[in-house]
Amino acid sequence: MSKIYALIPAAGSGSRVRAAVPKQYLRIGGLPLLHFALRPLVRHPAIEQVFVVLAQGDTHYKQFDWSEFGARLEPLYCGGATRAASVFNGLLAARDMIAGSDWVVVHDAARPCLSSEALERLLVEAGSDEAGGLLAVPVSDTLKRAGRDLRVAGTEPREHLWLAQTPQMFRYRLLIEALRKADPEVVTDEACAIEGLGFKPRLVMGETRNLKVTFSEDLRVAERILQGRDGVVAPARESRTTARRRKRVPLRPAQPRRGGPGRR
Ligand code: CTP
Ligand code: MG
Repeated sequence: MSKIYALIPAAGSGSRVRAAVPKQYLRIGGLPLLHFALRPLVRHPAIEQVFVVLAQGDTHYKQFDWSEFGARLEPLYCGGATRAASVFNGLLAARDMIAGSDWVVVHDAARPCLSSEALERLLVEAGSDEAGGLLAVPVSDTLKRAGRDLRVAGTEPREHLWLAQTPQMFRYRLLIEALRKADPEVVTDEACAIEGLGFKPRLVMGETRNLKVTFSEDLRVAERILQGRDGVVAPARESRTTARRRKRVPLRPAQPRRGGPGRR
C-alpha cells in the first residue's frame, strides 16, 4: 500500500512582498504563514510525515515553536536557487524515508488558506490517478492579450483555461525523475515537470480562497479568510479606538495627519 508524504518548499525570499523577513515568516495572528500552510497537512491522518524545505542559512524557523506538530514535521535545510530546485533537493534528502511508489503532496509555504475539504478532494482524486494531479480553478475573468503601450491586442478564449494551485500530488519516483530532467528556471510547478515526461496530471477543483501570498496586500486578504474560520486565528489585536470604546474611555478629537494617510 502506497504511503502519502507532504513536502513544503519554504526556501524562497519573497522578494515581491518586499518585507523585512521571507514571506513564509510574515505573521497572521502572531503565527507565521508557514504554520498555516503546514497545519492541514500535518493534521491529516493519511499523511505520514511533512517535510519542510528551508534555505540553507535559514535563521527564522527555529525562532518559532513547532512542537504542536511533533515528529510528523521535519525541517530539511537544503533549499535551492529556484522553487523546482528546492523541491528536488527536498525529495533527494528524504529518499531513504520515501518509497518510489509513495505519493508526495507538494504545497507552497505561501498558501495559508487551504481548506481540509480541498485537500481531501486532491488526495481522493489525484491519488486514484496514475498521473497524479493538482488543485486548480477555472479562469473566470475575460482574458486580454497585451500589445504595445498597454493596449489590448486581442481577447483570448478562456474556455479550458485553469489556474494552477497547490497542493499537487505525484508519485515520488515520477516526480523526482521529472524534476531531474526539467529546466528549473522554466518549471514553476510540479505538474509542468510531470507534463514534460508526457503525462497529463488530473485537474482537481481548488478554491479561489486558496490564494498564494505574493504581494503585501495578499497578506491582509489571507488574514480575513483565516479569521473567518473558527479557531484558526486568534482575534486580531484590538485597535486603540475599539479598546477605548469598550472601556468607555472618551476619545480625543482626531488630530489631522501631516503628510497624508501614513501607516497606522
Ligand atoms: N521557494 C523555495 N525555494 C526557492 C524559491 C521559492 O522553496 N528558491 C518556495 C517559496 O518559499 C514559496 C513557494 O516556493 O513557498 C512559491 O514561490 P513564490 O511564491 O514565488 O515565493 P518566493 O520565491 O519566495 O517569492 P518571490 O518570487 O516574490 O521572490
Ligand atoms: Mg518565486
